[in-house]
Amino acid sequence: MTLTHDAAPAVTADDLVTFTAEIDALINTHPVVTDNAYTCWFAKGEATAAEVRHLTVQFSVFSHLFVEAQLRKVINAADVESYRAGKEILMNELGVVFKPVTADAGAADGVDPELVSTEGTVDGGRFKFAAAHFEWLIRFAKPLGLGFADMGKRRHGTAPTLFFCDELLRIYGSEDASEAEGASYAVEHWAAAGFWKELIAGLTAFKERECAELPLAFWTWHDKVEDQHAAHTSDELVEAFHTPGFDRETFMKAAAEMLDGVKAFWDGLEADRLAGRTSR
Ligand SMILES: [Fe+2]
Repeated sequence: MTLTHDAAPAVTADDLVTFTAEIDALINTHPVVTDNAYTCWFAKGEATAAEVRHLTVQFSVFSHLFVEAQLRKVINAADVESYRAGKEILMNELGVVFKPVTADAGAADGVDPELVSTEGTVDGGRFKFAAAHFEWLIRFAKPLGLGFADMGKRRHGTAPTLFFCDELLRIYGSEDASEAEGASYAVEHWAAAGFWKELIAGLTAFKERECAELPLAFWTWHDKVEDQHAAHTSDELVEAFHTPGFDRETFMKAAAEMLDGVKAFWDGLEADRLAGRTSR
């Protein structure tokens, strides 16, 4: 038996445990997770209608352009498993309702986020225009006086919002599998760390105070689905870690850069709030 001198050392289970601890420490100590001034303020429920509109518009740009990054991630997927995992998210974003894996889970046949399943697969699920997450957001925004033309386009984004969206395209949608996996892991673990709950708290207070007809299900559905997404990326990490060519440093760097992009988005909203800048 011959070994080339540059053969990669065998990866052990201990290596994975150590690496997972390192990446989790990076995420859990990043300021966007520990110290997000905007979401922390928003949770107090003091936002005015103009401030809620500004958040809605910037969030709509991110959540619409995210679809572009997700498509790029699918196109650049390294294997058929990650290609399909990416498509689960992409197709669901666009309006394919998850079909529960267990037959007795009783999926409602509706399109609204308070009705549709947060678990299951798009394989065999039904496409409904009105089940697209962007359409949910449009319905949320209507009582705020915002319409389709006010939301979700690049031209509606502030510079920090567009920086975040472009970082998603560059890193999350990267052709380099280690880079893309690092970004996915970071984004999903950040998203599961509680910012949805902070926004829901603030929106609930706003709804009770001055906008009773505001439907919050876009936000509550996403909060429910995040734990599932984070678990998926943890499975993907195990998979990726054992794939030849996996580069730990690239993964770690991508995770850190992606979180910096997320932070830019929220810091942009915080700077606008402090300066009294709103969408209109
Ligand atoms: Fe979504």
